[in-house]
Amino acid sequence: MSVTIKSQREIELMRHAGKLLAETLQRLEEVIRPGMSTWELDKIGEEIIRGYGCIPSFLNYNGYPASICISLNDEVVHGIPRKDFIIQEGDIVSMDAGLIYQGYHADAARTIGVGQISENAQKLIEVTKQSFFEGIQYAKAGNHLHDISNAIGAYAESFGYGVVRDLVGHGIGRNLHEDPQIPNFRQRRRGIRLQPGMTLAIEPMINEGMPEVCWADDDWTVLTEDGSLSAHYENTVLITDGEPEILTLL
Ligand code: MF3
Ligand code: CO
Repeated sequence: MSVTIKSQREIELMRHAGKLLAETLQRLEEVIRPGMSTWELDKIGEEIIRGYGCIPSFLNYNGYPASICISLNDEVVHGIPRKDFIIQEGDIVSMDAGLIYQGYHADAARTIGVGQISENAQKLIEVTKQSFFEGIQYAKAGNHLHDISNAIGAYAESFGYGVVRDLVGHGIGRNLHEDPQIPNFRQRRRGIRLQPGMTLAIEPMINEGMPEVCWADDDWTVLTEDGSLSAHYENTVLITDGEPEILTLL
């Protein structure tokens, strides 16, 4: 598959999808509290998405059994919500959600701390978010895709963090995952040239320790191999003639 360029009409639909997803994540951030199971949080997320008349895109995607990927602490991404996973004060919670609005996808993720969290956890969350913003400074027509990758990786590594290499960001549109793949670490090649109308889900996954990850027995949940904390931050971004437009922010 090649990289798709969206028409004005498609961009309008993706803007709307993005706003609804941004709102979904904000509402989830507001309801999250200690004592709640990740299963409960997923159900609330699914209801919000369906309440907008949208489809939760992760549900049944390659057999994934829920609407929101909820990953706690040393879980990197793709955590499966469970009734027996109870969110506790001091946890860091990554919530990754996707929805389809009139045939178009939006994909975004946030990591938040529950109650009082450690200073090192807070720092990891902030640097992960900022690495996204460092990356999108290069998300401009005429630049190359890997300018984004290099900026994300260099920033996160300057704090001694491990940048996950086994999972990457992606193009998005009519499909959740489209070309190109978007690594979050230093690349030797420049990658494709960015053009207006490309829509990209840029999603740094950063570990406090080493970059290596492993998979739980459920074959979905990605964990840090060394047991260190991990954070995730993702938005769906539109390449324009000027500054990039972040579609999944309010
Ligand atoms: N944002 C995630 C990604 O791009 C979505 C996970 S898909 C699911 O990989 F299969 F876990 F639902
Ligand atoms: Co994604």
